[in-house]
Amino acid sequence: MPSALDLQSLAIEVAKEAGALAARRRREGVQIAATKSALADIVTDADREVEQLVRERLAAARPDDGFLGEEGGAAASASGITWVVDPIDGTVNYAYGIPAYAVSIAAVSGEPDPQKWEALAGAVYNPAVDELFTAARGEGARLVSSIEGERMLRVAEPSDAGALLATGFGYDPATHAPALERLGRVMPLARDLRRIGAASLDLTGVAAGRIDGYYEKGLWPWDHAAGALIVVEAGGVVAGLGGKRADREMTIAAAPGLFAALLARLEE
Ligand code: IPD
Repeated sequence: MPSALDLQSLAIEVAKEAGALAARRRREGVQIAATKSALADIVTDADREVEQLVRERLAAARPDDGFLGEEGGAAASASGITWVVDPIDGTVNYAYGIPAYAVSIAAVSGEPDPQKWEALAGAVYNPAVDELFTAARGEGARLVSSIEGERMLRVAEPSDAGALLATGFGYDPATHAPALERLGRVMPLARDLRRIGAASLDLTGVAAGRIDGYYEKGLWPWDHAAGALIVVEAGGVVAGLGGKRADREMTIAAAPGLFAALLARLEE
């Protein structure tokens, strides 16, 4: 079994190369290639090209590992390790030129199922602002940023003035009314609210102490695999409802002092 640090190094190297490709394609002009489940659920040629690059690089370095990618890439694992990849998280931001999108790469061991896996390493790279968030299991989480320099990540406890919360909304229009009702329940905890548009950046925002708490219903494994490990390694809590791990029903990430209150509001 490779060390978590070795897997982290590979995740970082590939995320940076993939991010550079995404940014280059963005400068050349992005075309929406298809809509998937709903109008907001889009895919660009760059999503597919970046996933292909990530897959090739990981397979060349570690041919026995499995792969699970947002754009359909899947391969079974012969080594017990699977790479869980969102080539461009925040595709709507990417398509509209909003600089909040990221390549998200995680290495997990065990079954490629968030209820069962153990996340070992993760890298979330936003090439638009040249920020890399990364963690290896048991080794802490780190930010390497063109804005902030380099630092270890630590979640922040919210001030008495209330929490800066973030959330996202599912693509299915039928989920919007319940999402607004949920929002009404959590807003009494909030000083203000953000909808950043990339789950990996919401999660790494919690890890970096930029956001106090985040929740979203409807995430896929590749949306949260790397970001959730980064939050936990930064001292935060990530879970779903009713004692379960984060899943499609709910992903909640927060500093320990906020988590219980946020969970209680979401379970009402
Ligand atoms: C989406 C983004 C968005 C979140 C959606 C995700 P994608 O990922 O993370 O913020 O609200 O649930 O699916 O489709 O841009 O990779």
